[in-house]
Order: sequence, then C-alpha cells, then structure tokens
Amino acid sequence: MRIAAFGGPEVLRVEQIAIPQPVDDEVLVRVHAASVNPVDGKTRAGEFPPVGAADLPATLGRDLAGTIEAVGTRAHNMLSHGDRVFAFIDFDRGAQADYVVVKAVELCAIPDGVDMTSAAAIPLAALTAWQGLFDHGGLEAGQRVLIHGGAGGVGQFAIQFARWKGAEVIATAGAADQELIRRLGANVAIDYQGQRFEDIAHDVDCVFDLVDGDTRARSWAVIRPGGILVSTLSEPDAETARAHGVRAVPQWLAQPNTVQLGTIGDLVASGEVIVTVAATYRLEDVAAAQERLEQGHLAGKVVLTLV
Ligand SMILES: NC(=O)c1ccc[n+]([C@@H]2O[C@H](COP(=O)([O-])OP(=O)(O)OC[C@H]3O[C@@H](n4cnc5c(N)ncnc54)[C@H](OP(=O)(O)O)[C@@H]3O)[C@@H](O)[C@H]2O)c1
Repeated sequence: MRIAAFGGPEVLRVEQIAIPQPVDDEVLVRVHAASVNPVDGKTRAGEFPPVGAADLPATLGRDLAGTIEAVGTRAHNMLSHGDRVFAFIDFDRGAQADYVVVKAVELCAIPDGVDMTSAAAIPLAALTAWQGLFDHGGLEAGQRVLIHGGAGGVGQFAIQFARWKGAEVIATAGAADQELIRRLGANVAIDYQGQRFEDIAHDVDCVFDLVDGDTRARSWAVIRPGGILVSTLSEPDAETARAHGVRAVPQWLAQPNTVQLGTIGDLVASGEVIVTVAATYRLEDVAAAQERLEQGHLAGKVVLTLV
C-alpha cells in the first residue's frame, strides 16, 4: 500500500513491487497484521516532516506482526524461518505490505499466547507510552501522573504501564470511555467532555499529554513545582514551563527498542497488560481504516489484517 504523492485518501494505492531481500542482520517478514496509527494519516497528507517529497513513493505503517520468511547472513543464529515476530520499523520502510525487511534491532519474538492482531497493535503505541512515561517522564512508584487521552491507542498502554509501575493514575477520556479507563487501572477517571480536569487533578508529578492544544495549555497549572510535562505532539513552550516552575521534555519521537518491546510482550502474555483492538480492516481498505481513526471516539487500536 503506497503513496506516490501527498494528499487525501485517494493517493493510497495498492502496487506490486519486488519482494525486498534481507542482508546482514535483517530478516524478511511475511506480514500477518500491521496497525494503523495517527501518524499514517499525517504522513499521507504530507504533514509529518520526517517523510518528505524526496522519500516518495513510500509505504506507510510503522508496526507489524508476522512470520520470518528469510534471514540475512548475520541473522541466522538468532532467528529462523517461521518464527513469529513483532516490530517497530523506521520510516525508510513501511509495514503495510505483504513482505517487509526488518532489522534485528527493531523486532522481538511474539510471546506464546499473543495472537498476531494483538501483537501488531503493540509496538508503536506501547513503546511510545513506555518511553514517554519512563525514559522521558522518569515516572516512579508512588508518583502521581495525569494521562490525557487515556482511551486512545497510546493512552490505554500508558494507563496500564503507569499502574504497573506503582504510580497513582489520573486519566482523561470521553464520557463513553470512563468505565474502560477505570478498568485499565485509572485511580481517577475524568470525563473531558463534562468535567474540567483542573478541578480534580492537582500537584501531579507528571502530565503525559496525548492531546495538545487547549488541554496542554490548561495542564501547566496542575503540575507540582519541579514536576514534568511530556507530550507526544508539538514542542512544549520552555518559557511557559519555566514560568510555572516545572519542566517540559523537548519534542521527541518514539524509537525501536527490542528490550522494552520484549518486556511489554511479557506483560501482555502474562495478562498484566491487555491490548484492545477496536477495529480491523483488510490491507486494501486502509483508506477506510485511516478515516475511521481520524473520526475519533474509538476505544483502542485499528489493525490491518493481511493473512
Ligand atoms: N511522538 C511520537 O513518537 C508519537 C507516537 C505515537 C503517537 N503520537 C501522537 O500522539 C497522539 C495520540 O496517539 P494515539 O495513537 O493514542 O491516538 P488516538 O488513538 O487517536 O487517541 C487519542 C485519544 O485522545 C482522546 N481525546 C481527544 N480529545 C481529548 C481531550 N480534549 N481530552 C482527553 N482526551 C481526548 C480521544 O478520545 P475521543 O476520540 O473519544 O475524543 C482518543 O481516545 C497522536 O496525535 C499521535 O500522532 C506521537
């Protein structure tokens, strides 16, 4: 599924191209499922700077689950034909394809008991939640975190990871998702449509902002002095952070990390963390899948199934 130009859903095209060949520590993966993330629609529209006109034609999709079809000369000790793997891949390739070359540093074995569709829903969203909370936010047991967008793809993992870590979790979501975010582990659930979070959340150690805009602007005041704001979206304003006596993490992008992906896979396999797939589509229906994600009010991930 490729784009040769930036634009609306009409630029998405099914194309037949040669199957790529793995070299060195790369493997060729037969993709069984690939998830759809908000970045796909932004990339398609030309609104995601890491993918520019010089990178076209491009295949979309950052994460996948599948089986190993072939291994490069330096990968055969670790992995073999038929192994089940999931991966978060770099922008130079796309996951929404029958076959994808994946680097050793991007993939991990799928634990027994985790199905392909759930596995595909994990890498980008879960690694973003993990890195945002722990690597950037430094969240620790006993701290209080406010997670905005708790029912979305990243938010659901974030609530569960923060709770697993031993933090006190306050999360915002729409009215329909209050029960869901409580079930995932939010100690306090806030309905962003009917309540003002700043009336309920105070002195939090960390705000994990998956929403931006007015929500970001109103968040500074609920952070304790010296606390931190971590956003997955636009660059937080350092001046505003200073004026509130808090810290803001500069804009960042989630990165592949096999150790973290392995830990997350184990948490899912043990039932400690659940994966919610809200909708599945066939690869050729990716335009409808992107459109559904953009409409919002989806509790969980959108996944394309290929096999
Ligand atoms: N920097 C990175 O590496 C990175 C990585 C992953 C994602 N991201 C970005 O992070 C954002 C979140 O990603 P995602 O995959 O979780 O998206 P998502 O699945 O679309 O989830 C967004 C959630 O935010 C909720 N929401 C909307 N307005 C809200 C508000 N005012 N208050 C509280 N919640 C609100 C939505 O609920 P309703 O639909 O019910 O309104 C939805 O559940 C996206 O913009 C994505 O591009 C960045």
